[in-house]
Amino acid sequence: MTERPLTVLGIETSCDETAAAVVRRHADGHGEILSNVVRAQLDLHAAYGGVVPEIAARAHVDLLDPAIKQALADAGLGLEAIDGVAAAAGPGLIGGLIVGLTTAKAMALGLGRPFLAVNHLEAHALSAGLTDGLGFPYLLLLVSGGHTQLLIVKEVGSYERLGTTLDDALGEAFDKAAKLLGLGYPGGPEVEAHAARGRAVIKLPRPMLGRAEPHFSLAGLKTALRHEAMNRAPLDAQTIDDLCASFQEAVADVVSDRTGRAMDLYEERLGPEAPRALVVAGGVAANQRLRAALEDLARSRDFRLVVPPPALCTDNAAMIAWAGAERLARGLVDDMAAAARARWPLDPDAPPALGAGVKA
Ligand code: KG4
Ligand code: ZN
Repeated sequence: MTERPLTVLGIETSCDETAAAVVRRHADGHGEILSNVVRAQLDLHAAYGGVVPEIAARAHVDLLDPAIKQALADAGLGLEAIDGVAAAAGPGLIGGLIVGLTTAKAMALGLGRPFLAVNHLEAHALSAGLTDGLGFPYLLLLVSGGHTQLLIVKEVGSYERLGTTLDDALGEAFDKAAKLLGLGYPGGPEVEAHAARGRAVIKLPRPMLGRAEPHFSLAGLKTALRHEAMNRAPLDAQTIDDLCASFQEAVADVVSDRTGRAMDLYEERLGPEAPRALVVAGGVAANQRLRAALEDLARSRDFRLVVPPPALCTDNAAMIAWAGAERLARGLVDDMAAAARARWPLDPDAPPALGAGVKA
């Protein structure tokens, strides 16, 4: 393990945020964010109700260079101060990933510094080390627009997947719920705002509740919501709010149950002496109802709950830079052959979830 400070430039272009950041890993292993620039492309995709890959890739080409310049300027550093250049290499949209990877490789080559091809999921998984100085191991609930996973984070590069989704990701379920109720995109914040005014009085299923393996399935819940909405059409404002509240309540129940089951497995695998910490990452972690449910669960199970601040839960480059720095400190560098990967599971040995679709 390197015992000198490492300053790493990170680049994130896997979806619809163009982001660049500079992070320092101090000799004692703690992290410091020197800059964190995110250029969201929301307005470019809003009209389509989702991210359009080709539009995203073109926007990354336009936005990335200025974002990198800004990140260096905000950090007050010149390029000579950078010890390594990291970019998200997957999983994600190939066009965007290629933009970030190529830029990072060119910079690393030009500077004569190491290049780090970072797994975007690993970056989410490790961000609690940056924000809270959390040590290994811990249990991770990663819930975003593209991913829903429960993982044991053992060390940098060592992950055991306990659960995944058989169909939609959690954020995707919020986005689809919002769309079918005629609300805006991204759907999570919209559904949460309407739910705050609604009553959870409409009966919706809790898929997978009580199953031994902590997998998720959300497609059935979405279909049930659609049926309930169609039965009540035309929808007045109160009904929309009630549907949102009922949907959010069902999701909170499912997430608590599945995460509780993952806690059982965490204890079984690591023994009673293992540190008990639950980290929640990904855009859906911003949901206050979900967070309250997880707080209750963590309290009842004697787990410490760690939720990085919203700007570091959603896609950002500080987490890419930090994962790069953690890898660099361990000598885990990449060569110029590193390719962009649409799929890149953190635990390639995880048995396939029965009935799982492409997102598992
Ligand atoms: O991590 P993220 O910013 O991007 C990736 O998908 O990688 O997550 C975005 C997702 C979207 O699906 C969005 O609807 C959801 O997170 N989200 C929320 C909330 N805020 C964002 N879901 C529920 N409640 C929220 N408050
Ligand atoms: Zn993400």
